Amino acid sequence: MDFQFTEEQLLIKEMARDFVEQHIRPIAAEIDETHRFPSESVLPMGEHGLFSFTLPEEYGGTGADSISYVLATTEVAKASAAHAMIMGSQCSLTAPILVKYAKDKSIPERLVPDMIAGKKLGCFCLTEPGAGCDASAQATTAVRKGDSYVINGSKIFITNAPQSDVFIVFAMTDKSRGVKGISAFLVEKGTPGLGTGAPEQKMGMNASHTCEVFLNDCVVPAGNLLGEEGMGFKIAMQTLDSGRIGVASIALGLAEASLDSSIRYTKERIQFGKPISANQGIQWMLADMATRLEAARMLTLRAAAKKDSGEPFTLESSMAKLYATEAAMYITEKAVQLHGGMGYTKTYAVERFMREAKVTEIFEGTNEIQRIVIARQILG
Ligand code: CAA
Repeated sequence: MDFQFTEEQLLIKEMARDFVEQHIRPIAAEIDETHRFPSESVLPMGEHGLFSFTLPEEYGGTGADSISYVLATTEVAKASAAHAMIMGSQCSLTAPILVKYAKDKSIPERLVPDMIAGKKLGCFCLTEPGAGCDASAQATTAVRKGDSYVINGSKIFITNAPQSDVFIVFAMTDKSRGVKGISAFLVEKGTPGLGTGAPEQKMGMNASHTCEVFLNDCVVPAGNLLGEEGMGFKIAMQTLDSGRIGVASIALGLAEASLDSSIRYTKERIQFGKPISANQGIQWMLADMATRLEAARMLTLRAAAKKDSGEPFTLESSMAKLYATEAAMYITEKAVQLHGGMGYTKTYAVERFMREAKVTEIFEGTNEIQRIVIARQILG
């Protein structure tokens, strides 16, 4: 497969790169150190179309495709994976669910334009203390009462929950039906009984807040049911197919930035009278990093192209997520090594990239889960 980008895709990549230099790179290290959510970036990101990918034009989307989404997310993650996470949460995990599954079309009409504009953020509430890899083990319940559902339960590790207005919540409506008893709901900020916990203290991705979400007798209109009762698990899995392309793109950004920094540093750093890049041992490390990066890029673009073609892409997105995130871990760790003592300090961003890369192997389905998905797909 040969990726000849269209003029539009290249323009979007260039726009994302300019945006990063102007708005994101100047604050990237500070927001990581202070664990500060970059609120000031959100509206400008919306204005620059960074939340519009694959969303319909009738709601303010630009019609930009998944390939463009990969290119833009990668550019953003080269400076700040936390910013790229905001994009993923909007473009992959939340707004598309409202567009595709809200039966009451006034819901996406009211919320999606604001999500695209960066005026409202969304979060995807699937994971629970007892439902991590086994997402079907939902303990959160939703009970129909007249024209409403009453939702009770708690979620953990929910990205951007404190800043969100739109909560996509998965809950059990019929436990006797197991995985087919899970349903998806829209719960909006301000709903009595909806609350968020304090941000987790994490190894990295510090500016992207990850929190518990509490639902205590949250009453939502029956029209907030997304899809039909019992469709929730499929909605979650289909959504994660897209989300995993976003995670692969974040990994690509971290890997690319780490390789670029390593190339620059090893050419500048003089030891034993010559740049360390003149040593074959260093060259072999750089060659392995560059090769893995390129393979990860191809898998990620292939998954995005499959998604854009309208064909099923579960296999391709899991392969992209698995390979790109492990490549990112390898490349960022080697980058720290190549920067020597400086690599272990905050003088260079590579130590942050290594900390951020680790979570890409874990969230939106651990890489062990990706291997299960891939094996099931190839075994049939
Ligand atoms: N698309 C559509 N349907 C799918 C699907 C997909 N990708 N994957 C599974 N399904 C369907 C199956 O076809 C099946 O339906 P039928 O019985 O009608 O055929 C149904 O869903 C159940 O599928 P499985 O039997 O395969 O389900 P399982 O219980 O064995 O689980 C799993 C499969 C892949 C392990 C899944 O549980 C999984 O992906 N786990 C990881 C969850 C995950 O990624 N969590 C992270 C969430 S991120 C988050 O919450 C925090 C945040 O802020 C980002």
